[in-house]
Amino acid sequence: MRIPDDVRKDIPLTQEVIYFDNTATSLTPIPVVKAMDEYYLKYRANVHRGVHRLSQMATHKYEESRKIVAEFIGAKFEEIVFTKNASESLNLVALGLEWNRGDKIVTTPYEHHSDLLPWQRVSKKYGAKLEIIKGDDEGNLDLADAEKKIKGAKLVAVQHVSNALGVIHEVEEIGKMAKEEGAIFVVDAAQSVGHMEVDVRKLHADFLAFSGHKGPLGPTGIGVLYINEEMFDIFEPPLIGGGTIEDVDLYFYKLTSPPERYEAGTPNIGGAIGLAAGIKYIEKIGLDKIEKQERKLVKKTTKGLTELEIPWYGPRNLKKHAGVVSFNVPPLHPHDVAAILDEHKIMVRSGHHCALPVMKRLGINGTVRASFHVYNSVEEVETFLDVLEELVKSLR
Ligand SMILES: Cc1ncc(COP(=O)(O)O)c(C=O)c1O
Repeated sequence: MRIPDDVRKDIPLTQEVIYFDNTATSLTPIPVVKAMDEYYLKYRANVHRGVHRLSQMATHKYEESRKIVAEFIGAKFEEIVFTKNASESLNLVALGLEWNRGDKIVTTPYEHHSDLLPWQRVSKKYGAKLEIIKGDDEGNLDLADAEKKIKGAKLVAVQHVSNALGVIHEVEEIGKMAKEEGAIFVVDAAQSVGHMEVDVRKLHADFLAFSGHKGPLGPTGIGVLYINEEMFDIFEPPLIGGGTIEDVDLYFYKLTSPPERYEAGTPNIGGAIGLAAGIKYIEKIGLDKIEKQERKLVKKTTKGLTELEIPWYGPRNLKKHAGVVSFNVPPLHPHDVAAILDEHKIMVRSGHHCALPVMKRLGINGTVRASFHVYNSVEEVETFLDVLEELVKSLR
């Protein structure tokens, strides 16, 4: 496939706007829409319980989607649980483990609220101790401090890529530290899956969460929780009921084996099928090509912002910088900058990006965030920088 031109042909919206809000959610390629259409128009039925042919077909496609997801992140079939999104996946982890007073939970100062609030709640409710690994203003973690804090931890939760600063963390090294201490290692991979290689075994992950609608180019409403099979005995399903059982009496139930044990009720069947189609589409392009394109765009963007003397955030070492560039155009409010860019049909996100502790630490009320996927082009970045140049000139 020619990058980005062939991908752009599959995504009609790329002809209408410059879409730089991929961290929030990505655009949808036609093959993904078609896969979901096919489910709704040709074999619309519930999974698992039906004998009729439509239900058989839906079950086959749903479980085939699970296999595609599992292979994509190096997991086993039964280790993949479909959820609503990364937030739900991370909450389920906190809700399904047993907690005792004094349990130590270690995380980073850069987490999205969805990988912070669940641990804060555990800490409040059960008296667990929350410890934060030190790091600098660019988002670089202090690995020596990580090693110190992880000693004696019950659980370590780290984001792979920051949605606010764009930094790629050393998850593999931190996972190794966690495993050496016998701690449970949780990875928030919401901003990495679909953008770069994610292999649950290489990362030493016990749990890994991501959403279908971001990097994997799937629909909204479908997410994934990877559960290492070694966790099956200690991880209780927070939700139980239809589909999760092997046997039930009026005063008794026996849960079935994973993954069904962790999927109560009718799942998002069309969503899972769409997610698998997104992953197949990503595989057709190749993760190496996606990464290369995003790196090219980040290099051009950060160089352009520097030349315009526009402050941008995240690591100066671009090898550690994923396709997310946060910046500000003082004295303008981030929302005003986003509104001006919108007038030029450039879609960016502005605000605190569900990472308020990061904003407070930097002493700012938010940032403007341009975030990329493989269908974004160098020409789009040039247009974006031209608009910013005009804006900066008008302010001086
Ligand atoms: C790093 C990170 N974690 C978790 C989430 C939550 O994802 P979702 O809103 O799809 O649940 C996001 C969303 O932006 C994110 O960037």
